[in-house]
Amino acid sequence: MYDIRYKEEQEAKYRILLNQVRPHAYDIVLDDGCGTGLLLQRFTSHSVGLDLSSKLLSAARLKLGERTNTYLVNADSDQLPFRSSTFTKVFAVTLIQNLPEPEQTLGEIKRVSQPDSIIVVSGLKKSYSFDNFEDILENSGLFIEKLILDEELKDWLAYATV
Ligand SMILES: C[S@@+](CC[C@H](N)C(=O)[O-])C[C@H]1O[C@@H](n2cnc3c(N)ncnc32)[C@H](O)[C@@H]1O
Repeated sequence: MYDIRYKEEQEAKYRILLNQVRPHAYDIVLDDGCGTGLLLQRFTSHSVGLDLSSKLLSAARLKLGERTNTYLVNADSDQLPFRSSTFTKVFAVTLIQNLPEPEQTLGEIKRVSQPDSIIVVSGLKKSYSFDNFEDILENSGLFIEKLILDEELKDWLAYATV
């Protein structure tokens, strides 16, 4: 159901964000709140997809098939079960508006990211004003490198570093 309802909307976001940040073979990628794996399935590098919903992860597992370099983890984004400085690229697409303290969620992402990593975050426009979205990123301690204001997208998009 998620894919039928949201695939097109999410793919419009991926087109823009992957134009700016595309994982390379040497990356270790986290797709935080990966849902059914719509974005995760596009990565060829070592990747982890994490989501709170085991049902959505089952759909992601079907998409990924026999892939051996991609792991799915059923956990809470506010308590990531990873060591600090693990990932080189982190994606959190349309995730943060679901969390009670998005600054804390982004703080966890910052913790598990390597010092030179790139973090891609999006948040629903209907949940946040642009200023609100920017404040959340800044208050989380991330450094905003670029903000994307695309009228066609339902999300604000940001590229950040730790
Ligand atoms: C709007 S969907 C976006 C899914 C995916 N990023 C995409 O691009 O299609 C939000 C996702 O966040 C997940 N989620 C919500 N709260 C979460 C939490 N506390 N920890 C991990 N995932 C969570 C939901 O299960 C859902 O898969």
